[in-house]
Amino acid sequence: MKIEVLPAGEIKTRVADLLSEQIKRNPKSVLGMTTGSSPIKYGIYQEWIRREQAGELSFHEARFINPDELVGISADHPESYRTYMQEHLFGQLQTLRYEPQIPDGSSIDLMAECLRFDQVLADLGYVDWQLMGLGLNGHIAFIEPGDHIPAKTYISQLFEENRVSQSPHINSEEEVPKQSITIGLEAVMKARNIVLVATGENKADMVAKAFTGPITTSVPASFLQLHANVTVILDAAAASKISLY
Ligand code: GLP
Repeated sequence: MKIEVLPAGEIKTRVADLLSEQIKRNPKSVLGMTTGSSPIKYGIYQEWIRREQAGELSFHEARFINPDELVGISADHPESYRTYMQEHLFGQLQTLRYEPQIPDGSSIDLMAECLRFDQVLADLGYVDWQLMGLGLNGHIAFIEPGDHIPAKTYISQLFEENRVSQSPHINSEEEVPKQSITIGLEAVMKARNIVLVATGENKADMVAKAFTGPITTSVPASFLQLHANVTVILDAAAASKISLY
């Protein structure tokens, strides 16, 4: 695991450089995306869009896949991860040729959707380059802490703090999704390269636990210590407690 500590303003350039190297190595890369606040706050997707417009980056042969989606809201709901990806990345790319793959959280048969998504992953040969965030509780994708972590795509029960409750598009507490459909640990470990971005003081404890503490299902991100090709990109605040563990 490589840990890089960068000024916040340099994160987007570093991530875009890593992505560009990946696409240069393999233009047909399967690119795993992430939602969350970091890609927006640090302009990560905006930098890809800028480079694409400048002719420095092409997604013509690449395929995009997202690891998770909220359950119980339609794909076109303003809070769905599909909508997020469409607004912040896919809808702004000009070289995108293949339909991005995202689990369908509104499926009436969620078990079948989990199986279908595992088949999609297997058919694509899993992910070549996965961008990730780190949940405050140590989740990656939407693999929440617990007694065990499933290998295959599954329905995870969201921790209260991870439920989207502030949204202006959600009218009542009842409408806030309680579950997500997420890839399991197999798809994480089979991703050939992982780039994880975590920033801010509030992530410092979890960064230290996840990347220098024991490997445990109560911190799903700790399993990344077993992965051969992970680059963790932090700002100084998020890196501030690493030496404590
Ligand atoms: C959501 C996503 C996760 C992501 C997390 C934290 O919960 N499902 O995959 O890791 O957000 O992201 P951020 O710290 O960028 O807000």
